[in-house]
Amino acid sequence: MSQKPWDGRFSEETDRVVEAFTSSIDIDRHLYKYDIEGSIAHCRTLARAEIITPKEADELVFGLEAIREEIETEKFEYKDSLEDIHMHIEDRLSTYVGSLSRKLHTARSRNDQIALDIRLYVKDQGGKIAGHLRDLCNAFTDLAEKNIDVVMPGYTHLQRAQPVLFAHHMMAYFEMFLRDKSRFENCVERVDVMPLGSAALAGTTYPLDRSYTAELLGFSAVSENSMDAVSDRDFIMEMLSCASICMVHLSRFSEELVLWASTEFSFVDLPDAFCTGSSIMPQKKNPDIPELVRGKTGRVFGSLTAMLTVMKSLPLAYNRDMQEDKGPLMDAVDTLRACLDIYVRMLPKITVNRNVTESASGRGYLNATDMADYLVEKGMPFREAHGCVGKAVAFALGEKKELHELDLSELKFFSSLIEDDIYPALSVKQMIDRRKTYGGTATQNVRDAIVRARKRLS
Ligand code: ARG
Repeated sequence: MSQKPWDGRFSEETDRVVEAFTSSIDIDRHLYKYDIEGSIAHCRTLARAEIITPKEADELVFGLEAIREEIETEKFEYKDSLEDIHMHIEDRLSTYVGSLSRKLHTARSRNDQIALDIRLYVKDQGGKIAGHLRDLCNAFTDLAEKNIDVVMPGYTHLQRAQPVLFAHHMMAYFEMFLRDKSRFENCVERVDVMPLGSAALAGTTYPLDRSYTAELLGFSAVSENSMDAVSDRDFIMEMLSCASICMVHLSRFSEELVLWASTEFSFVDLPDAFCTGSSIMPQKKNPDIPELVRGKTGRVFGSLTAMLTVMKSLPLAYNRDMQEDKGPLMDAVDTLRACLDIYVRMLPKITVNRNVTESASGRGYLNATDMADYLVEKGMPFREAHGCVGKAVAFALGEKKELHELDLSELKFFSSLIEDDIYPALSVKQMIDRRKTYGGTATQNVRDAIVRARKRLS
């Protein structure tokens, strides 16, 4: 018969199926490091409050460290009957310190213990994700710099709109991922609150110096309300929201890579080492990485939805439903980290087919706005110029020519203001370099943006 720390009032042994159903060890075993760190700080706090002696604290800490070693060298045994990581560690502690292990849980509940563990996890992982995002931002900046003079069509409605620098397009993603990074940093700041001392829900009768525990664990604050501390999981929802937004950005980029790598676009070549083939069609080279990243976005959204749904009707304070928080959280964190990591590795190896992107920029009337702007410079009101160029486009379409391929006499038919100097105004180079407004695609602007981006990252 397996002893449980809570079975004093029970007259029957727990049903095996119930043990398996209620067990969370498969998931919360990944929190062992935080759980042990928390227990060590708790021992020190108990000693400081003279609830245990300093010598007892030393012994407990020694035992906890030995267990950490066992887990890390994979010598630790897990079993459903011990439910969760907290009970596993406490149970194992007796092999090292005997009955002294029975003092560890004084002034503590698994409710504040798990709240601590996941807060430590979110702090740690949030920082790591911010680190991946920094690397990704660097990779986008490098890719932009390497292709600084490559022109490509910019799109709206997935219709060719106006030419832009490929670098400008990449730096748009830099902005998104830099915001993602600050979202995670922000989330980590808010989660930086120490819940131990809240115990089951109401606080504890023991005189714990909670600030001391917080200091030992590297938290900058202690929780203000014991009920909130054990029952809230908004920091998980926040982390998953940040992860979901970041996945939206990754997924949009992925979609573009899938399109650009198609024969129809042929804008980029993806590295062979990051693609796979087909088991039947020998010619295939598939963009699996972007496809999988796009697909994994669904998992992360699913985690956020699961978490919001788990929490939405829970009365205060702790409810066992909340045990369902860790699966979605950890799955989303692992998924996001894997996606960020693979793009950090793949981005430097993407090559742009500049001949294709440049020739695409010269076809599809991408210079129509510039022709209208030319007429405005010559004194025509913009709306009138828009109409006039619209007619020219319709005419050119009929002739199967681009605007810049029409003769001056043909162009003059649409406005007598048009002179020979229209042709340079319709060239891709001028279209790019005249868009000098701050944040625009002119080459010098993008160069400056890259310099600023490096500073913003450092
Ligand atoms: N495994 C639990 C969880 O993840 C730990 C807290 C359990 N508390 C309780 N009273 N059963 O939420």
